[in-house]
Amino acid sequence: MKDAAPRTIYLQDYAPFGWQVQSAHLTFRLAPEATRVVSRLHFAPNPGAPAQDFFLHGEELTLIRASIDGEEITPEVTPEGLRCEVPSGPFLFEAEVEIAPAKNTALEGLYMSNGMYCTQCEAEGFRKITYYPDRPDVMAPFEVRIESDLPVLLSNGDKVEIGEGFAEWHDPWPKPSYLFALVAGELVNHAGQFTTRGGRDVELNVWVRPGDEHKCPFAMESLKTSMRWDEDVYGREYDLDIFNIVAVDDFNMGAMENKGLNIFNSSAVLASPDTSTDADFERIEAIIAHEYFHNWTGNRITCRDWFQLCLKEGLTVFRDQSFTADLRSAPVKRISDVLMLRARQFPEDQGPLAHPVRPESFQEINNFYTATVYEKGAEVIGMLKRLVGDEDYFKALDLYFERHDGDAATIEDWLAVFEDATGRDLSQFKRWYSQAGTPRLRYEESFADGTYTLTFHQHTPPTPGQEEKAPQVIPVAVGLLGPNGDEVVETRVLEVTEAEQSFSFEGLSAQPVPSVLRGFSAPVVLENDIPRETRLFLLAHDTDPFNRWEASRSLARESLMASVTEGAEPDGAWLDALGQVLSETGLEPAFRALMLGVPAQAELARALHEKGVTPDPEAIWTASERLAQTMAARWEGMLPALAEEAKVEADYVPDAEQSGKRALGSAVLALQTRLDGGAAALAAFDGATNMTQQLAALSCLVRAGRDKQALEAFHAQWKNDKLVMNKWFGLQIALAGPDVAVERTEALVKHPQFDASNPNRFRAVLGALAGNHAGFHRADGHGYRLLADHLIDLDSRNPQTAARMAVAFQTWTRYDEGRQALMKAELERIAAKPGLSRDMSEMVSRMLG
Ligand code: ARG
Ligand code: ZN
Repeated sequence: MKDAAPRTIYLQDYAPFGWQVQSAHLTFRLAPEATRVVSRLHFAPNPGAPAQDFFLHGEELTLIRASIDGEEITPEVTPEGLRCEVPSGPFLFEAEVEIAPAKNTALEGLYMSNGMYCTQCEAEGFRKITYYPDRPDVMAPFEVRIESDLPVLLSNGDKVEIGEGFAEWHDPWPKPSYLFALVAGELVNHAGQFTTRGGRDVELNVWVRPGDEHKCPFAMESLKTSMRWDEDVYGREYDLDIFNIVAVDDFNMGAMENKGLNIFNSSAVLASPDTSTDADFERIEAIIAHEYFHNWTGNRITCRDWFQLCLKEGLTVFRDQSFTADLRSAPVKRISDVLMLRARQFPEDQGPLAHPVRPESFQEINNFYTATVYEKGAEVIGMLKRLVGDEDYFKALDLYFERHDGDAATIEDWLAVFEDATGRDLSQFKRWYSQAGTPRLRYEESFADGTYTLTFHQHTPPTPGQEEKAPQVIPVAVGLLGPNGDEVVETRVLEVTEAEQSFSFEGLSAQPVPSVLRGFSAPVVLENDIPRETRLFLLAHDTDPFNRWEASRSLARESLMASVTEGAEPDGAWLDALGQVLSETGLEPAFRALMLGVPAQAELARALHEKGVTPDPEAIWTASERLAQTMAARWEGMLPALAEEAKVEADYVPDAEQSGKRALGSAVLALQTRLDGGAAALAAFDGATNMTQQLAALSCLVRAGRDKQALEAFHAQWKNDKLVMNKWFGLQIALAGPDVAVERTEALVKHPQFDASNPNRFRAVLGALAGNHAGFHRADGHGYRLLADHLIDLDSRNPQTAARMAVAFQTWTRYDEGRQALMKAELERIAAKPGLSRDMSEMVSRMLG
């Protein structure tokens, strides 16, 4: 375990490493319990660096021998690394260490998954493989030799030689150690080919375990589409002769962009219509794209230090979002992304874990792979693009690639490129990187003599360690509608930079209705109490699909909140207006399916808390159930027509059009189930011809409490497919009623197929409990205790995954005193656990404040 005294790393303390690594040569002799790693590292003094001791990171390594320029040395070895005297000029450092991949349960460094060797080095996992300056600003070309009897031996870069019992790889592109990768196993490949627009022929492979071959074609197609898109849109070509993707069952995150050898959680690559839902396909396509796009935004230009993580992640998320928007439906993608942002980033930004997009200190960097760094980081790029315009955005990006190719760069470098390309001063904009918290925006209107004026007020509430906030640059996209619903002023982007600021529109014949923050043009909370009539008007007429959806969403939220606090009936006027929209056959089915969605219970809890009301999870659950029941009853007459429209006759394809229809069909089936108690869902379950339909039907049956036989049948059909079984585990907890969610979780963690050491399975079960709002927040605290028990248990083996899931407690101060006390007690119980990981102790202490 890690040392007890937490060390904190600060951005302001950055200093370059004293040496450059001119080349790194590694030999791996693989054995599960005793792998030998022999390193030959050529160091030369780094002229720009301050004087320092020679220190190499290294953790959990057994040093066998070390030498400098061929002379044996006896370095000083600590739990963090190795220190020794070195010559003043260039020198060759060699070492041999022993590691035990089969005992590596943290899944960081070199580990084993189902008999296969694989690596995960980002952020600081390479130091568990050998002694090295394990920091992103030290870049070197790597040569790797792998010795093993396993048939497939892979590493980064291009193949040098593959022979009996060994393989040699050479990566000509200097890279930081976090992009190192090695894979060895009994794998089969699904092969493909791509010719770059510059004429380079690239061999493509998706490597999987025998038996999974049929789940590869979609990933391969997604890869090719991504490669073409990056050429067409960003002018970026691939730069090696081979690109490998490997699927691994045990993986802490989604995937990893190692140079030329991307390693994926199998859930983020394996796909087939029988076993994957439309949502899985879309997610896989996006993650393949994301990792591929990292080849330029991450690998060719990397980060100087881990505080700059958003430099590659925010930008790459923004790029994968744009890719999906281009390939599928842009409005649907935008709405889905905002839903995600509000569900995951807003709670973070508004709670004890709030941190800037570029944090300024950390104890464990793995705790900062957050929705703020990734998704808010992507929003910041989106705002920048909106402010400078598309043309200048791409001009700046070209300059970024030209100026920083091969660099380990910073946010300052990134912004300087925009300033130089556009002549803009971005010093105020930079606050988006340093100020945590979600800005609040409010506007007032006035109209006189044909001039309409919008006055904006902004403020950002304090966050931990940041009491005072300065005004941000907020791009507010606004359009104006006339009284008859026609658009009288088309969308324009107002740049709000002051705490209070006015904008006027002249020459209007009547007072318009504003449509503010179109497309969710900035990650802020719009605080206005917009009159219900205005929202209904926008729902009916807004030309901006996002704001049309948003109008309905806010009416839904208000209706639900009134139900929770006053027992009010669901808002009939809203339901009628929404029913109108749902029957507009000109609107794409995917959009209408989103319109049918209602705020999640956790979102309502946050909304209530924002209004100063203590959320009552049971009351929220009851109100949500009642609303669903009312929707079904009120729209009963139009459900058959919608179901008809949702029918797909053609063979299954996971494209936007078909998945949109199926999404609408599933939403309709859910309403139907409220009326018939599950009859239609049972029929749909029996007749399902793909996983999307099968799972949608099963979800309805779980919600209706008629799931016993269907769950058994599903299990019998899919018990040998791990990825499908994760759905089976998760669904019956996530959708269970609040009275049974905890008991179901307790039963399922005892199921023979529950395996806490597999992060996907752990997340499927415990993550589902944490996501069942009323179930997790059961008043007696059983949900809290059960999760805490499992977090404590997992922390001793896999701190990363355990710490990540502890985020479930981040909202604890929102609730009533009883629940607060129960959650706090669990956090304290976790904190008191002897030998707690650095990951978990940082998370828990931040949450306790
Ligand atoms: N860079 C990976 C990505 O594309 C994430 C890897 C993070 N891994 C970790 N252990 N923190 O998003
Ligand atoms: Zn990434």
